[in-house]
Formats: sequence, structure tokens, C-alpha cells
Amino acid sequence: MGSTIIGCGKSLPALEVENDELKALVDTNDEWITTRTGIKSRRIAVDETNADLGEEAARQALGWTEGGYAERRIEAGEIDLVICATVTPDVVVPSAAGLLRRRLGLDNAIAFDVNAACSGFIYGLTVAETMIAASASNVAGAAGRNPIKRALVVGAERLTRLTNWSDRNTCVLFGDGAGAAVLEWNEERAGILSSFIVNEDDITNALTCANAFDAPQPFDKDGISLEAAAAGDPALPRTDEEIGTHALVEAGRPRQVLYMDGPKVFKFAAEAMTTAVRQAVERAGITLDDVACIVPHQANERIIKYAAKKLGRPMDFFQLSIAHTGNSSAASVPMALADAYEQGRIQRGDKVIVVAFGGGFTSGAVVFEA
Ligand code: ACO
Repeated sequence: MGSTIIGCGKSLPALEVENDELKALVDTNDEWITTRTGIKSRRIAVDETNADLGEEAARQALGWTEGGYAERRIEAGEIDLVICATVTPDVVVPSAAGLLRRRLGLDNAIAFDVNAACSGFIYGLTVAETMIAASASNVAGAAGRNPIKRALVVGAERLTRLTNWSDRNTCVLFGDGAGAAVLEWNEERAGILSSFIVNEDDITNALTCANAFDAPQPFDKDGISLEAAAAGDPALPRTDEEIGTHALVEAGRPRQVLYMDGPKVFKFAAEAMTTAVRQAVERAGITLDDVACIVPHQANERIIKYAAKKLGRPMDFFQLSIAHTGNSSAASVPMALADAYEQGRIQRGDKVIVVAFGGGFTSGAVVFEA
């Protein structure tokens, strides 16, 4: 018995931008981007919102519309929990999950967001599985919990809204999209066998993005001050200093964009991915030989190549979806998972690993039986 993935879906915005088109914005070229990252094009949400993308992915996962993979149709009233993993919600309140709950009419569900950057879907899946298992367990207090039998876990991002389009080091990497999965408690099937999630402190601020609070603050330390409202938030420079963006903001660079030291993140990511896979496999009580395929975070094909080498597996053991999506943060793993199901790579009974790493630093992996 366990929480089983019974549906998956994905959604991409309409606009596709090829590598060479980015030459109009920065000094780059297709050859550099392709050889360093494996990315050929990315999708950019011009008119689509985070909720538009998440809704379409969820509809597929619920079996309401064509695309993705769904064992059967799940009715709106059957979903007890919605978790949306995102760093780019359309609004702060309500949550992205709350908007999806409203749009899909999931009236019985509780809904909240998870922010664990690119690992968000793995964290979301882990939280959902834990809540479902807790609800199904016989331990004292189980009867007093929210009964949760089915969960919708979504990863949805408009990462290109946090992209500095004049920084060639980062802007070529990112894209938008959404992916979703439906988890259901099943007495007969094993479902999720293990999960491993972990945080490391990104002490050198290798990957950061500030908030750009812009509401005038009519206060100084003595109380109300109309002059202070015009002067801007006095706490922001301290925050900028804490995450290492002070000098960049002072130099006129935008505040609310992703700043990344690529090589440092690369080093962290390559190690974190192999560690998470090994730990999750060990916790599941299996070996990699029992696994049909790995669906990794699509950040850079070279990171996947490095992990493949370390894990002693060929590249075709890994689902690769990066070429036409770029790095879409929390949306990346569920989108690649939907691709793997659609391409027939995952069959009933197969053991599969989903694995990710991201800002924070966060990382993690989940092993499940399809
Ligand atoms: N086009 C052409 N040249 C470029 C570009 C570009 N788009 N970007 C950088 N360069 C140049 C650099 O300026 C540098 O030139 P220099 O030697 O003259 O200074 C040269 O290319 C090499 O740059 P590196 O940074 O050393 O390139 P590297 O091989 O490390 O690749 C990359 C950079 C792709 C960013 C890589 O480090 C990477 O993928 N890092 C991990 C990113 C990641 O996985 N992020 C995941 C988390 S993202 C999130 O959580 C939202």
C-alpha cells in the first residue's frame, strides 16, 4: 500500500524562442548554448499566467483533457489537497494552489504553495505523500487529521519574469511551463517507496533572487514620516547585502532577477543529484539495477551527463526534455515526468526516480513504483 501517481500532465506557453534569436538581446550564439547546456529553445509566457499553465497541466493529470497520462478521470470533489511548487506565483495572496483550487472547482481541497526553488516538485510530492500516509495510518491522532486520500501536486513557473534579459550568463538558461501529478492512496500498490529531501546553506549566495517590495513606507524609526515614504524601504539594502546583491543593485542592475554563479551551482548540482539518487534508492531498499529510468531536473544536460557517469548509467537511462524547454525550475521535473509517461518509458510496476536540485540550496529525490 502507498501513495501512487495515477496521472501526469504538462503545459507550455505558445511562444518558442530559438537560441540564435537571443543574439538580438545579448552576445551569444546557438553553438555556445547548445554545447554548454543542451538547450536549443525555450518557451516564454507572454500572455499566459502561472495559473493558466498550472491549470492546463492539472486538467491533463486529472484526466479531464487530452495529453499527459491519466489512469482514469478524477472528479473535482475527490481531490483533498493541492500543493503548488513555485517561485513565481501570479499573486502573493491567494496562493498559486488556491487559484488552481478555485479554477478547477476543487471545493474539498486544502491548498498551499511550496517554495524550494527547482526542487519544489520533489518537496511538494514528499509533503503530499507524508500527509496522505499520516491520514491513512493507525497512529494516535490520525483520526483527528484532515482525511487526505488524493492530492494534486503542481510545479508551475514563469521563470522568465525573474530573468535579466541583458545578462547572457543566465538569460539563455530559463523557460516557462507547468507540470502536474495526481497522487492517490492505494491499498494494493506500493506507489512512493522513499523520499530524500535536504537543505544546504548557499553560503556564498551562488543563486539568489530578491523581492522588489515597492509599496511606499510612510514610517521612520520615530513613527509616521511622509519624507520616508519617498525615500524607499530602508531595510532593503540590508537584505541586498545579506544575499550578496548590494553592489549589483547599487550599480543599477534590477533587484528582482535571478543572480547566479553558474560554475558554483554546477558543482553543487552535480554532487547533490548523485547523493539524492543514492540516498533515496538506499531508503527504498532497492538498487539502481531495479530502476527503469531517472527523471531529473532539466537544468543543464552536462549536469545530467556528470551524474550519469558518477552513477554508472548511460544517458538513455535519464529522461531528457531540456532541449526545447530550458530550465523551468519547479515545473521542470513534472513536465519531464509527463514526457516520460507520454513516450511510454514508464510502464505499470516500473520503479522510477525523480530528482532535483535548486536555489537555497535544496535538493531531493523520490523513488516510486508506477
Ligand atoms: N553565450 C556566450 N558566452 C557566454 C554565455 C553565453 N550565453 N554565458 C557565458 N558566456 C561566457 C562567459 O562570459 C565566459 O567567458 P570568459 O571566459 O571570457 O569570461 C565563458 O562563456 C565561460 O563561462 P562559464 O561560466 O565558465 O561557463 P560554464 O561552462 O560554467 O557554463 C553555465 C555556464 C551553463 C551557467 C553552467 O555553469 C551551469 O549550467 N551552471 C548551473 C546552472 C544551474 O543548473 N542552475 C540550476 C538552478 S537555477 C534555479 O534554481 C532557478
